Amino acid sequence: MKIAIINGPNLNLLGTRETAVYGEKSFDVFLEELKLAFPHIEFIYVQSNIEGELIDAIQKCSIVADALILNPAGYTHTSVAIGDAVAAISKPVIEVHISNVFSRESFRHQSFVSPKAKGTIIGLGLKGYELAVRFLSE
Ligand code: DQA
Repeated sequence: MKIAIINGPNLNLLGTRETAVYGEKSFDVFLEELKLAFPHIEFIYVQSNIEGELIDAIQKCSIVADALILNPAGYTHTSVAIGDAVAAISKPVIEVHISNVFSRESFRHQSFVSPKAKGTIIGLGLKGYELAVRFLSE
């Protein structure tokens, strides 16, 4: 099984960015742990700070992967186009947010992706990605 993980803007800074909110582990380190925990799964990993690149990645990964895990980061709350990209593909998309967006500013309570996603995991830290992989692989 092939799972694509797509991370949006500023998630390349995990480990140093607002560590009280997002934790101290970099995504590269976490991804290695994930690969060890799920050796039978092939992972594709894309991170971009650019909206159009994320849309390209969603479209391309929908062809080559069986399922997508998407954290659109700040674009979650602003991007009609990323919501449209998720709606346009037939592969399941699990939306993940590391922090509990509902305990933060009200502008983070809106998601253009949640209505189009198969499901959403919010506020469980990096564990959310692992739970999404577990769900998709079962
Ligand atoms: C985030 C939450 C967003 O509101 C924020 O803009 C992010 C990360 C999360 O994973 O908690 O960059 O998607």
